[in-house]
Amino acid sequence: MKHNTNDQLEDGKLPSDIVERIHLLSDKYGAMGQDMKSYLDGLLYADYLTYWDYIHLDVLLSLQNPKTPFEDEKIFIIYHQITELYFKLILNAIRQVANSNNLTIELFIRQLKRCNSYFDNLVNSFEIMIEGMDKEEFLKFRMSLLPASGFQSAQYRMIEICSTDIDNIIAYQYREDLNEEHADMRTKYQYLYWKQGAVELATKKKTLTLKQFEKKYSDDLIDLAQKYEHKNLWVCYQNLSEEDQYNTALINELRQFDVNANVNWPLMHYKSAVRYLQRETKDIAATGGTNWQKYLPPKNQHILFYPSLWSDEEKENWGKRLLKKLLE
Ligand code: HEM
Repeated sequence: MKHNTNDQLEDGKLPSDIVERIHLLSDKYGAMGQDMKSYLDGLLYADYLTYWDYIHLDVLLSLQNPKTPFEDEKIFIIYHQITELYFKLILNAIRQVANSNNLTIELFIRQLKRCNSYFDNLVNSFEIMIEGMDKEEFLKFRMSLLPASGFQSAQYRMIEICSTDIDNIIAYQYREDLNEEHADMRTKYQYLYWKQGAVELATKKKTLTLKQFEKKYSDDLIDLAQKYEHKNLWVCYQNLSEEDQYNTALINELRQFDVNANVNWPLMHYKSAVRYLQRETKDIAATGGTNWQKYLPPKNQHILFYPSLWSDEEKENWGKRLLKKLLE
């Protein structure tokens, strides 16, 4: 019989590296009480893997279903989906740090660099939202999407919860009191900073957007916060040796992550809200609009994942300089 492989039979024998692999496979399946021959049959009959099956291309490309006939709505859907996939990559990198049994500074830095490069990509591509859609079309199709909003992105909240102590993402005005009271996680959750957003400007009542989000995700987010109480990125950092905590490369990546998550991305996002939704406050209130103008700017949110890595002056100016530049 003729073999067309690189591993030609020599004197009717299988090459030694193939024999070695068969032994390894036999050990692997044997250890689990499995019959290796059946698995080899499986290999024999299996189809070759294709790119389109592997990445589920048909499914992926079938997930963009506009609610209106406006062409630009597809851009809006796809860019949100792209963002959620990047959020998933960020969570994937954070998880690798949080779940590491033997966390080294190299692993920590490597994963933070990844988080930062994912955020950089999002920040640099946000123009797709800001300039990439026709404003008139946007203002029409968004009415068909109410009350859905990116505000309801659970992964965005998960990134926050996994990145820092919950105390750092509590609304600024409640932070000190809750800290002193040693409130439990469920109580702290009620005072997270984002509960101040998606609120009706005229009545200060929670919007349906916020209520529906809480109904679907609150239990899961509280569970996550409890799981990450002792393994969020800030705890991971504090558990390093004193020498490692002084590592400049690590501190720089943490600071960059803080700026990316809490200034750069929020500002690009804010710019898109300004481009499409900016109106007089009284007009927003009159049409049942939200308090987004006050809520979204990072300088008002006061969210820093790692406050002790910043000077008082840096904290004081959080997001201010960039905001001014961005809106010029
Ligand atoms: C034209 C584009 C966009 C506009 C006009 C816009 C508008 C808004 C507004 C007004 C809010 C405040 C919530 C409210 O008052 O209802 C908000 C929140 C939010 N949006 Fe968008 N958005 C846009 C694109 C995106 C994209 C692409 C994402 C990606 C997932 C996103 C994710 C979010 C998140 C996570 C929040 C909450 C931010 C926070 O709590 O600080 N948005 N958006």
